[in-house]
Amino acid sequence: MGGHICILGGDGYLGWPSAMRFSALGYDVTVVDNYLRRALCARHGLDFLYPVPRLAERTALWEELGGRRIRFVELDLAEPENMRALFDATDYERLCGAPWPGEPETVLHYAEQPSAPFSQRDYRCTDLTIVNNLRVTSNLLCAVRDLCPHTHIVHIGTMGEYGTPDIDIEEGWLDITHKGRQDRFLFPRQGASVYHTTKIMDTDLMWFFVRAWKLRVTDLMQGPVYGLETEESRRHPDLRPYFNYDDQFGTVINRFIVQAVAGYPLTIYGKGGQTRGYININDTLQCVAAAVRHPARPGELRIFNQITETFSVRELARRVQEAGRRRGLDVTVAHVENPRTEAEEHYYNPTYKALRELGVVPHPLDDEVLDGMIEVVQSHAVRIRPEIIFRPAVKCETRKQE
Ligand SMILES: NC(=O)c1ccc[n+]([C@@H]2O[C@H](COP(=O)([O-])OP(=O)(O)OC[C@H]3O[C@@H](n4cnc5c(N)ncnc54)[C@H](O)[C@@H]3O)[C@@H](O)[C@H]2O)c1
Repeated sequence: MGGHICILGGDGYLGWPSAMRFSALGYDVTVVDNYLRRALCARHGLDFLYPVPRLAERTALWEELGGRRIRFVELDLAEPENMRALFDATDYERLCGAPWPGEPETVLHYAEQPSAPFSQRDYRCTDLTIVNNLRVTSNLLCAVRDLCPHTHIVHIGTMGEYGTPDIDIEEGWLDITHKGRQDRFLFPRQGASVYHTTKIMDTDLMWFFVRAWKLRVTDLMQGPVYGLETEESRRHPDLRPYFNYDDQFGTVINRFIVQAVAGYPLTIYGKGGQTRGYININDTLQCVAAAVRHPARPGELRIFNQITETFSVRELARRVQEAGRRRGLDVTVAHVENPRTEAEEHYYNPTYKALRELGVVPHPLDDEVLDGMIEVVQSHAVRIRPEIIFRPAVKCETRKQE
C-alpha cells in the first residue's frame, strides 16, 4: 500500500507500535532512535514494568514472525548532520546497510523528551528537554526544506499545549474578530510545564516553516495515551511497547493500574477534578495512519485534536477501582498533595471531530480494556517497585494564569 515512512523516535512507547503498524500496512519503514528515553530511565532508576529488547532484536523478531523488514539506525537527531543523512541516498545506505528506499513520503516525528515532571526535575533536565526537543524539530524542518520538500511531516503535539482555558478548545486555530476586522490565528497556547512549552515552540517553528517554505505539516494534539497491547504486539510479548509506571514517565491510567495491582492506593493529585482528553494506543495508531493517508497540502499546517474522550482524574480512579475489584483486588484511593501547581477544578471542552471525519473509529475506555491491562500488569507484578510509584519531590510549575 505505502511508500517509505521514516519514524523518528521509533524505539518509543508510540514509535515502535507505529513502526509495526506501518510495516503491516505495507510501508517501507525506517526507524531512528538514540535510546535517550532508555538512558534517562536507567540514569534515574525508573525501570520498565517488563524488559523490552532493543531495536535490533525487535526488528529481527518482527521479521522472523512474518513482518516486512523494518530498517533501524541509531542516531542522535539533535545533531543536524545526522538528521540530514537520513535524506541522502549515499549516507542512508552507509548508515542503514540497506538500499535507499527513496525519499520518505512521510516523516513521523516522535523523537522528543515527553515527560512534564522530568522537564523540570532540575536545571539539567530542563536544559536537556529544551535543547533536545527544539533541536530535533528544527533539524527536521531544515532537512525537509533543503532535501525533500514534498515529504509530509506528521508531528505529535499535545493537548497540554492549550492548557485549560475557560473557553472551548478548537482544533488548532481560532477565528478572531478584533475592532471590526477578522483573522485566523493559532489557538492560544499556555503550557503547563517546560515540556509542554517546548511543544508550543515546536508548533511555532512548524508554522513558520510552513509559511516561509510551503512545507506540508500535520500536528496531532494528543492527550495522554494508555494501553500496552496492539494488534501487532499480540504476535509476541517481546513486541509490546515499554511501560513506565513511575511518577516521571508513567501516564495516569498506566500508573493507576500498576498501583491497583501493587496494593498501593491510587494517588489522586489534590481534588482530582483535573480533566484531560485520553486515548487508547490503538486509536493513536488509527489517527496517525489516517493523517498519513490524507496528507496536509503544501503550505498547510493542519492541526487535529487527537483524543477519544475526556475524564477527570477522580473519574479515572473510580473506573480503575471498579476494574480492580472485579478481579478481586482491594483497591483504595488516596488524595495526596498535588506536586503540580495546576487548576484542580476547571472548565474543559475540547473539539475533536476532524480525525473521525477522516474515518477514525474511536474505542472508549471500557471494562475489557481495563481488565486486559490489569491482567498483563498482574503477570509482571513481582517486578513492580513501589518506591518509584510516587516520590513527591518533583514539583511542577503549572500555575493557571490568573
Ligand atoms: N505517550 C503519551 O501519552 C503522549 C501524549 C501526548 C503527546 N505525546 C508525544 O508523542 C511523542 C512520543 O511519545 P512517547 O510516549 O512515545 O515517548 P517516548 O519517550 O517513549 O518516545 C520518544 C522516543 O524518541 C527518542 N528520542 C528522543 N530524542 C531523540 C533524539 N535526539 N534522537 C533520536 N531519538 C530521540 C527516545 O529515545 C524515545 O525512544 C512525543 O513527542 C510526546 O511528546 C505522547
